[in-house]
Parts: sequence; structure tokens; C-alpha cells
Amino acid sequence: MNIEIRSIYPDLINNLTRFMNRNHPPDRFTPALLNEKIFEDKDFSTDLTLCLYSKDILSGFGMAVLREGGIGYIKLLAVEKGLRRRGLGRAIYNFLERRLKAGVCRLIRIYNSSPNYLLPGISPELTPAVFFLKHLGFVKYAETCNMKVDLTDEFFPVESEIKKLESKGISIRKAQPSDLTELTLFLEEDFPAWIAEAEEMFSGVESTVFIVKKEKRIIGFAGYDANNKGMGWFGPMGVEERYRGSGIGSVLLKICLNDMRKKYNRAIIPWVSSPEFYIRAVDARIERTFWQFEKRVQPI
Ligand SMILES: CC(C)(COP(=O)(O)OP(=O)(O)OC[C@H]1O[C@@H](n2cnc3c(N)ncnc32)[C@H](O)[C@@H]1OP(=O)(O)O)[C@@H](O)C(=O)NCCC(=O)NCCS
Repeated sequence: MNIEIRSIYPDLINNLTRFMNRNHPPDRFTPALLNEKIFEDKDFSTDLTLCLYSKDILSGFGMAVLREGGIGYIKLLAVEKGLRRRGLGRAIYNFLERRLKAGVCRLIRIYNSSPNYLLPGISPELTPAVFFLKHLGFVKYAETCNMKVDLTDEFFPVESEIKKLESKGISIRKAQPSDLTELTLFLEEDFPAWIAEAEEMFSGVESTVFIVKKEKRIIGFAGYDANNKGMGWFGPMGVEERYRGSGIGSVLLKICLNDMRKKYNRAIIPWVSSPEFYIRAVDARIERTFWQFEKRVQPI
């Protein structure tokens, strides 16, 4: 098989979108989504991205990122259906692993490259990938799921819950651009991993984040369109520890979902570790489960 390796460049996005839609079901790709996953990732590097061509036709794609702390992520990987089981997937992976190891990478994980990621792991319906990863020496270390909420139904009623919180001096409103600095300071204290996603929620004409305040201080937040924009992704959401258990999270969730109805008829609540909360609050359903895989490539 005559295979040529080429670099990624922005003009390739439409072709790559068709390739991914053919070869990475059930996920649906758009040029905007792939742009976000590839070029808008703060750790994007052409050295860690490769396109395989066979007879001038795009036949394989792989991308990795090296995040802080020396963890490398395979962020996207697919081989043309008719060319599988010929070693192309392994060749793409080996290329990316070699490049990651040339940096400071000590551990490689698959897909869950927060804050900019497509999926929080590998879902069982990507069955060949599960065997592929086993073949490459990966081990499963955790499980998670995405949940979904139908937004074509009626709005979630929130007035009485909001009033109850207001009687305790707690208010909720949509954040303005001028709130970003204070929100960042709050996140630095309580949820540093979500700073990048919070910034994304201020990148549109209107912010997509709500903040909770008590005594003029932010004590919680929730938003959407922080990752996988245009796909109806909820989150992140966080409430300061000492204010948990008083209903703030479920009001925040409902307010956000009500706002998401303007754009989406379905919300995805990704990377959920406590499904019970979402079932109780908004009758969410598990949409897809994910297995998380890793492989140590250098001693700690
Ligand atoms: C996963 C994927 C990239 C593998 O690509 P590929 O080119 O077929 O993989 P390779 O030919 O290099 O396979 C390497 C090894 O993986 C294992 N493997 C790959 N596909 C397999 C399958 N369908 N069933 C069982 N084992 C499989 C085998 O051990 C294989 O070695 P062998 O053929 O000598 O037995 C491809 O199936 C794909 O594009 N899937 C859809 C996208 C996807 O799931 N992406 C996530 C990737 S982690």
C-alpha cells in the first residue's frame, strides 16, 4: 500500500469533516467542531497531528496534545473503513507516541483531553478501538457517561426555588463580560481546572454562563457551550463547598437548560460522575457510557 504522510492545514477541514463522518460514527462532525478540536486547542501542534493519504485520498487521521503535567492525549484517531486491519491505525498511534515521548510525556490517555475534548473516553460502540487499544498496551482505568435532556418539553419551573434562595440572600443571573475577572478569581480558588472553559463561555456575543452571588461574592456558576460548541454541551458547573446541599446546583442547572432551549432541542451533560443528581433534578438519561484508557510510557 502506497501511503503518504501530510501535515494538517486549515483548508483541509471540509475534507476532514467528510472523512470523520464516514469513519467515526456515531459522532457527527462539522467543520466548526473540527476547527475547535484541532486548531483552537491551546496545545495544538502540527508535529502532533498527521494525515495519511492513499492514492491522494485522505485515509487516516490522528491528533495528539501534550497537556500540562506531562500527560499526552490521543485526541482524534480514525482510519478509512476499507483500509482497516492493515496496520495503519497502529502506525498513526506509534508516530504520535514517539512524538509525545520526545516531549516530557509520561502517560498517554485516550480522548479525554479536557478542557478541549470531543468525548470523555472511548464508548463501547467504538468496539474495534477497544481491542486496538488493548493491542497497544492500554489499560482501562475508569468509566464515565454522558447524559441527555430533552429540551423540546416545557421550561423547567424555577421561580419558587429562586425565591427561596433570594430569601437567604443568594441571587443568580447571567454573567456579563465584566464578571470574567471575578469568576476567574473564584475558579482559581475552587475549580482551577475549569478556568479555560469559563473563558470560552464569554467568547460569544452573549455569555453562556450564570453566576450565583451571596453578599456580593461569587459562590457558584454554571454554563454551556464551553466545549463542543454547537453540540448542546452543558457545563461546567460548580458550587463552593460550604454552600452545597441547599439546592443551588439544581436551580443553576435548570436555568442553564432553559437558556439552552433558545439554541438546542437537546442538551448533553458530559463526563458525569454522579448521574443521580441529574436524574433527580431534570430527569436526565444516560446517553452514552465511556471507558477511559491509559498507558504509561515513561517512568514517573
Ligand atoms: C480503531 C482504529 C483506528 C484501528 O485502525 P486499524 O488501522 O484498523 O488498526 P490496525 O490495523 O493498526 O490494528 C492494530 C491491532 O489492533 C487490533 N484491532 C484493530 N481493529 C480490530 C478489530 N476490529 N477487532 C479486533 N482487534 C482489532 C488488532 O490486534 C490489530 O492487530 P492485527 O490486525 O495484527 O490483529 C479503526 O478501527 C477506526 O478508525 N475506528 C473508528 C474510529 C475510532 O474508534 N477511533 C478511536 C481510536 S482509539
